Amino acid sequence: MPPDGHLHAPCMLAETLKILDPQPGDVLVDMTLGLAGHATAILEKTAKDGPGILIDWDAAMLAAAEKRLAAYGDRIKLFNRNFTELPQIMAEAGIEHADLAILDAGVALPQLLDTQRGFGFQGTSLAMSMADPNDPRAADIINSAPEPQLRSILRSTQSEHRSKLIAKAICRVRQRKPIESSSELAEIIAAAVPKGRRKSSRHPATAAMLAFRIFANQELDNLQAGVEAMAEALRPGAGRMVVLTYHSLEFRITRDTIQRLASGHDIPPWLPAPADAKPLVRSLTKRPLKPSDAEATTCRSCRLFAAQAV
Ligand SMILES: C[S@@+](CC[C@H](N)C(=O)[O-])C[C@H]1O[C@@H](n2cnc3c(N)ncnc32)[C@H](O)[C@@H]1O
Repeated sequence: MPPDGHLHAPCMLAETLKILDPQPGDVLVDMTLGLAGHATAILEKTAKDGPGILIDWDAAMLAAAEKRLAAYGDRIKLFNRNFTELPQIMAEAGIEHADLAILDAGVALPQLLDTQRGFGFQGTSLAMSMADPNDPRAADIINSAPEPQLRSILRSTQSEHRSKLIAKAICRVRQRKPIESSSELAEIIAAAVPKGRRKSSRHPATAAMLAFRIFANQELDNLQAGVEAMAEALRPGAGRMVVLTYHSLEFRITRDTIQRLASGHDIPPWLPAPADAKPLVRSLTKRPLKPSDAEATTCRSCRLFAAQAV
């Protein structure tokens, strides 16, 4: 785990604090603790007696955060679990409702920078798992999935044509020897993408690597279930939640899930709403908020969604 030198300010913290408006005694649920940047700032305001349920499925992140949170003692409870298990976690903690909830999606910077985790272009493994550094799933998919399955995974973040080129290149290379690291994978992808088709200054393997990471960690299914679970956990009439997202697939899932929970039904918006519709939340962000210019380098792609329990 990279040391504290790799800490950066939590994304959109000022906006998060403004919306959540933490008060002494409020119960906090942090679904994605990371290095506790958001949690620390919120816990400072909920003062001495506001409990916190703090979740991260990465044991290394949780251990690093625990040190930073030592001053909060028994007020906080840490859970090394998938945030989709929030209902069970709340029951175990003996807490019925959350006043404040935050979900800061995706990987944390220390995970990205740790070459052994296999997330980056310099990675020395193909683990790509946030929950378990020894998870063989991503390596299995990349080295064994049939070409059509690779294409379909890749299509989640890019065009049909690119997906086909990249899937073919991966299959060609792995016929000779297994692909063993994310740096090797990034090179194979970069070489497969014709230069004329490359976009902007991003590494040419960015979108393809994101597709494998999302697939290996089931990030979109988890995000949808997580947003639903947070909304369910909020104190009726008062609890507020913030969701921070970083790419268009996360934006869409979060926006649609909050819209559905706010309408209280699954019927498409152009059809009449059913009489028994039961909204769970109301959206507090007509459009997602964007980071200020000051945050443009570290959190450029961040978009903030917020809702309040009805
Ligand atoms: C962007 S970081 C959070 C950073 C944090 N807000 C801070 O201020 O330090 C996301 C964290 O969520 C965790 N995470 C992602 N998906 C998760 C899931 N389904 N369940 C639990 N933790 C998850 C990751 O391991 C990572 O540590």
